[in-house]
Amino acid sequence: MTLLPALSFGTLAVLFSLIFIGGYVSATGVGLSCPDWPLCPQGFVPAYDFYVEYIHRTVAATTGALVVITMAFVLRSKQAPKGMKIASIIAAGAVIGQITLGAIVIVERLHSILVTAHLALGLVLFSMVLMTTVYAWKIKAQDKALEEASKQQQPPASS
Ligand code: HEM
Repeated sequence: MTLLPALSFGTLAVLFSLIFIGGYVSATGVGLSCPDWPLCPQGFVPAYDFYVEYIHRTVAATTGALVVITMAFVLRSKQAPKGMKIASIIAAGAVIGQITLGAIVIVERLHSILVTAHLALGLVLFSMVLMTTVYAWKIKAQDKALEEASKQQQPPASS
């Protein structure tokens, strides 16, 4: 459980910035500036014409990897309670669904129901990653409390 608090918090922070960028994509109306899927017209090379959408997709790919890695760590952890495991599995499912839905949003030319579903699934994803993060920090705090309690119980070293 040493890495999980930082990993889950990092994932949450990247996801938060992705939701922010997504809102910006929507509000500025540049959702179709990169009309192809999965890559933009110039492949991996970004261009000024679609840089906001390019950043949205790049950060989405990073978020996807982070959410799945976090789930792998949670499932491997012996300390993770059932609720934490379920939250991280739902988060991994939601991130895969969200990336797929993002592609469909492009193919269907920003259909309003699909864009709304994209926002809603983003919220489900955020809640599940938040839950995983809260569990991770709670376990870290419990570990620390146990460590301090066991230190206090040890007899003082004889001089
Ligand atoms: C974890 C992955 C993703 C998350 C959390 C996410 C989140 C968001 C959010 C919160 C919005 C704003 C929605 C609104 O204001 O109604 C948005 C917009 C958008 N997203 Fe994503 N997104 C993800 C992946 C993707 C991917 C892979 C694509 C594919 C290209 C994509 C395409 C778009 C487009 C085109 C918009 C703008 C829709 C419009 O113009 O109204 N998203 N995203």
